[in-house]
Amino acid sequence: MKGPDGEFLDCANNVAGVGHSHSRVVKAGQDELARIQTNGRFLHPTRSRYIQKLLATLPEELDTLYLVNSGSEANDLALRMASQYARMKGNANPTHTICLDAAYHGHTQSIVDISPYKWRQCTDGLNYHKEHVHVVSVPDTYRGAHRGVDGGEKYAQEVCDIVDMTGGVGSFIHEAIMGCGGQIVMPEGYLPKAYAKVRENGGICIADEVQTGFGRAGESFWQFEKYGVVPDIVTMGKPMGNGYPIGGVAVRREVAEAFANSGIEYFNTYGGNSVACAIGEAVLDAISSDGLQTNANNVGSYLKSKLKNFMAKNSEVVGDVRGYGLFLGVEFIAKESTEEEIIPNADLCKFVVDYLKNNRIITSRDGPDGNVLKLKPPLTFTEKDCDTLMAGIEAALREAKGF
Ligand SMILES: Cc1ncc(COP(=O)(O)O)c(C=O)c1O
Repeated sequence: MKGPDGEFLDCANNVAGVGHSHSRVVKAGQDELARIQTNGRFLHPTRSRYIQKLLATLPEELDTLYLVNSGSEANDLALRMASQYARMKGNANPTHTICLDAAYHGHTQSIVDISPYKWRQCTDGLNYHKEHVHVVSVPDTYRGAHRGVDGGEKYAQEVCDIVDMTGGVGSFIHEAIMGCGGQIVMPEGYLPKAYAKVRENGGICIADEVQTGFGRAGESFWQFEKYGVVPDIVTMGKPMGNGYPIGGVAVRREVAEAFANSGIEYFNTYGGNSVACAIGEAVLDAISSDGLQTNANNVGSYLKSKLKNFMAKNSEVVGDVRGYGLFLGVEFIAKESTEEEIIPNADLCKFVVDYLKNNRIITSRDGPDGNVLKLKPPLTFTEKDCDTLMAGIEAALREAKGF
């Protein structure tokens, strides 16, 4: 990645999924900008072609796609659709949503409401916790309340209890892997149980793939495929346009029809404009022609095994390594931690991120306690890049004193 004063190794920007300034994507955008079509009421051939290609990456149940301009817009539209569908199914609380604590789904008002990561930052006393929003625990099987192999099912029980208590909610939304929540993978058994319960009352299950989609999971194109569920709605964004603003909402036909039956025509001036579609198509083509999903799988496995070795050598302060493909997290803990009480070590994590940045390696940290190193590089990342990153992390730990 080129910075204002030279090169950096980018280990953090999953928007540049197919690599910074990919020539195929740049050319597609430049060519189409010369004849951009927006505000169209008729189908543009590039749009139809792109939508067909994108739908081919999804399970056949998800056969309808809406194009928007960002991840926030995608999630906002998903909520609108879910509440309309749930209303038609006679759901008791169609506008109610179950979300995960520490989740981030975007910046609009409706979406900040379901993003505890954001509204918990509010310090002016404003009560941001809205009545229609039900927050369940982060399903963290490393450091949370339920740690065993049955942790997933136990966390899912919280979702079931809310459905029982309220008589049903319109939607349940979750990130495929929680990013801001600290690279939290959905534990085994969690989603199948939660989805089944939400659907009993005509509720809709939404998987937010804004961070994780488009080949990053490695073994699968979408992260939700690892969990043995098919969501009713999948929302997408970030790497979809490799930097150009575009988002998408894939839904089951039945949900789209319920939405259309509200009588309110869906319109979006820029959503799905011809430049966005040309760029989106070039991104899909680059993922397949450059073998980037396979690369995410191979290089992701390589990096994860290096990180696990690093954890074994430094188990006093490195508690967990998790994730899939090129979406990984490293949890830093305090030396005083015990098996029962694992103490987060945000200071050490911050030191590592700053040390790496000063050595031209860009990473980030997150999680409710700020102690999780987030790794989500462009999918062009190589084994050599992993070695450079690992050498940097190891040097940072050698330099770290008093943590
Ligand atoms: C999981 C997730 N969903 C949605 C969004 C919102 O996307 P955007 O910033 O494109 O509106 C983000 C942004 O970081 C995100 O991480």
